[in-house]
Amino acid sequence: MNSRKQLIDSLLNELTLDEKIDMVHGTGAFHTGGIDRLQIPPLVMSDGPMGVRKQFTDKTWIPCGKEDDYVTYLISNTALASTWSKEASYKAGEVLGAEARGRGKDVILAPGINVQRYPLCGRNFEYMSEDTCLISEMVVPFVKGVQTQDVAACVKHFALNAQEYCRMDVKTFCSKRALYEMYLPHFYASIKEGNAYSIMGAYNKFNEEQCCESKALLKDILRDEWNYDGVVISDWGGIHHTENAYHATMDIDMSVSQDFDNYYYANPLKEKIQNGELSVDNLNESVRRILEMMYELKMIGQQKEERKAGHFNSHESQQAVLSAGQEAIVLLKNDEKHLPLNKKNLKKVAVIGQNAIRKHSNGGGSAEVKALYEITPLLGLKMRLGGNTEILFGEGHDLPTDTESYRAQNEVASWQTSSVDIYEMRIQRFIKSKTSGIIDDDFVAWNDEKANEALQMARECEEVIFFAGIDHDIESEGIDRLSLKLPYNQDRLLNEIVKVNQNVTVVVLSGSPVVLGEWKNHVKSILWHSYLGSEGGLAVADVILGNVNPSGKLPMTFPLAEKDHPSVEMGEYKWDENELYFREDIFVGYRYFDKKNKEVLYPFGYGLSYTKFEYSDLQINDRGENVDILLTVKNTGDMDGADVVQIYSELVEVDEAFKELPYCVRELKAFDKLFLKKGESKHITMTVDKKQTFRFFDEEAHAYRLLSGQYRISAGHSSRELVCSAMIEIGSDQ
Ligand code: GLC
Repeated sequence: MNSRKQLIDSLLNELTLDEKIDMVHGTGAFHTGGIDRLQIPPLVMSDGPMGVRKQFTDKTWIPCGKEDDYVTYLISNTALASTWSKEASYKAGEVLGAEARGRGKDVILAPGINVQRYPLCGRNFEYMSEDTCLISEMVVPFVKGVQTQDVAACVKHFALNAQEYCRMDVKTFCSKRALYEMYLPHFYASIKEGNAYSIMGAYNKFNEEQCCESKALLKDILRDEWNYDGVVISDWGGIHHTENAYHATMDIDMSVSQDFDNYYYANPLKEKIQNGELSVDNLNESVRRILEMMYELKMIGQQKEERKAGHFNSHESQQAVLSAGQEAIVLLKNDEKHLPLNKKNLKKVAVIGQNAIRKHSNGGGSAEVKALYEITPLLGLKMRLGGNTEILFGEGHDLPTDTESYRAQNEVASWQTSSVDIYEMRIQRFIKSKTSGIIDDDFVAWNDEKANEALQMARECEEVIFFAGIDHDIESEGIDRLSLKLPYNQDRLLNEIVKVNQNVTVVVLSGSPVVLGEWKNHVKSILWHSYLGSEGGLAVADVILGNVNPSGKLPMTFPLAEKDHPSVEMGEYKWDENELYFREDIFVGYRYFDKKNKEVLYPFGYGLSYTKFEYSDLQINDRGENVDILLTVKNTGDMDGADVVQIYSELVEVDEAFKELPYCVRELKAFDKLFLKKGESKHITMTVDKKQTFRFFDEEAHAYRLLSGQYRISAGHSSRELVCSAMIEIGSDQ
């Protein structure tokens, strides 16, 4: 019998009931109980997707780190998806895993991979995309990267976590087909291909069951259909009933209360096992799964000595964050090849907007990061431009002071301790706006002095770079956004600036879509990116000044107006009720805009370059189980650069048997990112699994089946710019 099984079996035999109970619930804010006599360490966890969170005292949410818990601030999961680079995702996972190990953690509570179904969801910045294919392709390398560092990824939040309002109990309903085609595949990929050692149950309900107690999600799907033998950890406070979670095979009960002995999986579970109400079997299985994960992490067994030590704040990590940030920036507009700016010709530049100097690492809720440093865009520009360019900086507008000043005034310990009060403050503001019908989405009054100062600078300078967008006062865990509009009167200010300067570049920061004012038709260039971490300001400066050719692509659709978005048009964002029906069904994100043939501001997958890429000779080689898609990519411009070749399928002639079945106009099925020198060509081949690519979920059969018919396979620069294609016949699987 192998030593691993021997060890785990013997530990299981040795453990008392009390000791097993200690292993399945929080005995501190971020860890379970260790069993010293058996050399079983506590399982130590930490947030989050953008860096290893500050150190808290063992039992409370009070930070206790001194100068020893500063870390690298990584780019957000949305920014990572904007790179469309599987290599960048793997590297980001490695960095996060190394930093977590370096800080003595065993589980990093990341990545967040919920579908960005609702454009106003406050946590979209922590999630990757509106598209399950892009999420699947990006989460697998990320999880693999994390786990190379002897740290467990904890993929979250399983499942259908789509809004922050009423987040602890909103009931989410969707069809089985939408569930299996749009909301589960990327969790499945993270487990089956990424080998994620742990999954976090979501706060919301799936139908009538809390996700952390959902037999349908955790037992029927995760355990029985997917044979998942990893560890399922509740979100902090996600369990509401001991027996429901226990029967659903939830493994670890974490929460925010400090009454650790009365967690659902503490004394309450012990009593129910002792009085025979619950069998000890599920507890034994949970403890076995925890021990198996600990073995994988080299926390127990002979290989303990080989366990990676990790590191944090290494130069290598910082360079990886810079490189990912550079790749995450999306060029949306560039009239007259206005960008890149040539620093030699830049004598006087106006830099305007609070986002030029704002730091974001300390916001966002549990994703907050105590960053060793965070280079802002103004600093990044000055670092890259040097002393021959005069930069005038103007804030241009005010910022809300309630949350920031609240934190400052109250010496707020952490988001958790402040969240109730700040949440209350924000939620009252949110409800007042919704009930009064007057959406106060500027949050601050116009500031004449700051606006006039900015306008005067714009008059004096040859170039204006305006750093617009939102921040973690607007989008954060615990609260949804009020609207897609840019806050703080930015549109009004920009509409004035374009009247006095013809060379305006606008850089928009947001973790989810925004709508842009009339100024968008009068500025020369627009860049968009999500949160870019410690090196963000340098990444933006490098793109603006041409040190890097932008290669980012939008991971979500930017609608022309909020009301156009499916989750809004279908009336399915309930801020005053706690029932949410995904009435758009499988038509999530771009699939809806394509179905309705609606114009959008910027389509899914959109992003320009300083050079041009052309595709030709697309061919399909149907090899039975797999299908090869071959094509030639050429850089026909005058600058080296990277390109994301996107492959979309369109069912142009469906088989008779499926005439009545609704299906999407087109769907992303594969993509590849490649670097080409100017003038260089490459022949590339992408291979897809036929069953996985041309399938639908048959609710009657409760199984995926081939959706047979004639398909057009196209290569595109975005979901709305398909440039060459070929046909393939997919036969029936019956
Ligand atoms: C939070 C979040 C979850 C986080 C956990 C621990 O409420 O929903 O993403 O990892 O609690 O902070």
